[in-house]
Amino acid sequence: MVESRPVAESGGNEGTENGVDEGFDDAFALADRIPGWLTRDQARVLWDAASALTDGAHVVEIGSHQGRSTVVLARALGRNGGRLTAIDAFVDSPRYGGASTRAVLLANLEQAGVSSIVDVVVARSRQARSRWSEPIDLLWVDGKHDYWTCTDDLRWTRHLPDGGRCLVHDAFSSIGVTSSLMLNVLPSGRLRLIGRVGSLATIEVSRPHLADRFRFLAQLPWWVRNVVIKVLLRLGLGSVTRRLGHVGPFDPY
Ligand SMILES: C[S@@+](CC[C@H](N)C(=O)[O-])C[C@H]1O[C@@H](n2cnc3c(N)ncnc32)[C@H](O)[C@@H]1O
Repeated sequence: MVESRPVAESGGNEGTENGVDEGFDDAFALADRIPGWLTRDQARVLWDAASALTDGAHVVEIGSHQGRSTVVLARALGRNGGRLTAIDAFVDSPRYGGASTRAVLLANLEQAGVSSIVDVVVARSRQARSRWSEPIDLLWVDGKHDYWTCTDDLRWTRHLPDGGRCLVHDAFSSIGVTSSLMLNVLPSGRLRLIGRVGSLATIEVSRPHLADRFRFLAQLPWWVRNVVIKVLLRLGLGSVTRRLGHVGPFDPY
């Protein structure tokens, strides 16, 4: 089995030239103690998206695990009186650890000083959505990565305003997430792909132009490459993945 990468690689986005950047290093230092799959550059995307929201914004996170992304979002929101609803089913699996992970998440939030900003909801995202009626300002999707769950998670975008953003992890990396994006974003009349940092895609609630659809299609070779790398890693052929520019034993994120 391919091991989960416990911490993110470093790289890029070190800027501290404007005020918004200053808190990121602190936030990421706290988050980087927590195991997970979010890279530093991707954490930066979450930070920037949450920091750009108006005061008192409400963000929904689907899939918190031990809180790596939760801490980054909550630290950004804490500066402008925002709130984060963190939804996780704490599914039993060797990868995610099951019910006991909730206590680890709560301890990590406490340690990062963000407990008062985060409402942890223990539920499957579909179940939580069926009870949800409030508008939200930003959506972060990093839950179950199969086609059906990701498709359902994209329905949370109905709670976003025009111009609101939905960030999706493992886009153009996992088959389930990518096929869901292919059927729900590529042909959509209300969602458009803005870009991606590694496998973190930024989707906006706005009418897509032709260029947005081409941008989406342009990511597909990268997706095929990632699927090939994942297969090679599972076959124990990690050395071959280097020829595809992939270094290390972990899946591409
Ligand atoms: C990839 S991890 C999230 C990682 C986290 N965002 C981070 O930065 O470390 C996926 C999480 O989704 C949760 N999950 C799986 N299926 C879910 C579902 N249907 N609804 C909500 N959470 C789910 C798992 O329990 C796991 O904690």
